[in-house]
Amino acid sequence: MYLTREDEAALSRDDPYGRAFATIVKVGESLGASRLLDVETVHVSGVSYQTIGDAGVEFLRDLARSGARFKTFATVNPMGMELDGDDTPVDESFKTKQIEIMRSLIDMGASAWFTCAPYDVLRTPPGTIHAWGESNAIAYINSVRDAISEKLPGPFTILSAITGKVPAFGLYIPENRLPKVIIKVNGKVSQAKAGVIGKMIGEFAGDRIPYVIINNMPERGLKALLSSFATYSPNPFMIIEGINPNWRSYKDKGDMEESFTINENDVKLAPTPEYDALFIGCPHADLEEVMHVIKLIEEKGFPHLSKPLLISTSRFVKSYLSPSLISRLKGSNVHIITDTCPIVSPFLRNRGLLNVATPSSKSVYYMPRLVNVRAMPCDVEDCIGELM
Ligand code: F3S
Repeated sequence: MYLTREDEAALSRDDPYGRAFATIVKVGESLGASRLLDVETVHVSGVSYQTIGDAGVEFLRDLARSGARFKTFATVNPMGMELDGDDTPVDESFKTKQIEIMRSLIDMGASAWFTCAPYDVLRTPPGTIHAWGESNAIAYINSVRDAISEKLPGPFTILSAITGKVPAFGLYIPENRLPKVIIKVNGKVSQAKAGVIGKMIGEFAGDRIPYVIINNMPERGLKALLSSFATYSPNPFMIIEGINPNWRSYKDKGDMEESFTINENDVKLAPTPEYDALFIGCPHADLEEVMHVIKLIEEKGFPHLSKPLLISTSRFVKSYLSPSLISRLKGSNVHIITDTCPIVSPFLRNRGLLNVATPSSKSVYYMPRLVNVRAMPCDVEDCIGELM
């Protein structure tokens, strides 16, 4: 691997920075990277005690105590509970471990956003390089902004935050970003169907970058499509015609060898059996998504829903809602949750909510696997309607 004079100097340091640098170089060499790149931002995943366990707590504690400090601006993914609020109960031992994770990250210099949709706040312009570890967020900035990040493991993002570097491999190389298959989606696509389509595209494209033509889908469908695609595909990148700012250039340069058409009628959502709660916000809901729900409830005069509706979102989005609106929503059995989500926290089981309906295909995939809760796809409009 080609190393600059500054890289060589960093490698010779016997401190946390030097050791993190040496690890990045070793990993880069094993990936065949020709050089290191500077990153503008880092997004750290693997922040919940539910997902990283005691080994993760110790790793972060040791690193923070050794004096490791972040050189690059770094945000962090949702953790296993809310910092305040009573909607996400966890036991004391979980809470203690989670707070220790949070402290270690903050001591190292992380910006404690605790959201998986940092792109709702960060601009990430086209061509800028990032080291992110949350697949939905990586798919979003690659596909919607044409900013650049590979799908990086959580511990690796910590090393990138310390050094400000990432090896030039995979999607960091322009030739690896060219589309190889073309996919056309016909018809009007709802949010839940967008998630199913993301799965279909991921399974069809495999490790090839897809060029996708999809014209009739709401903004919240875009997040559902990309998060599901990034769950089922090794590639966190698709080029969406009319959305990616450089789609024309990708279309001209791409070598699309195969095509696949999906018709709206081919996409069927299984009938939703009995469920205990409705969940929205995987990825974390943006303001538009929250407002959409508020409008549906408001139109019916804020009725008390027969089952709880949980919305996970960021503190930024919640800060736009007045305390009186939040408590009015609570009165309607609609709960705005921040800092966490039901897939990286044990709170659903702790509340006895074991069957959940959701428009998110990513949740449908992960909820049974990570927290042993059954999840079923459902469009928000349909499911809310049933609860009024
Ligand atoms: Fe975010 Fe949790 Fe889904 S971290 S993408 S809401 S699994």
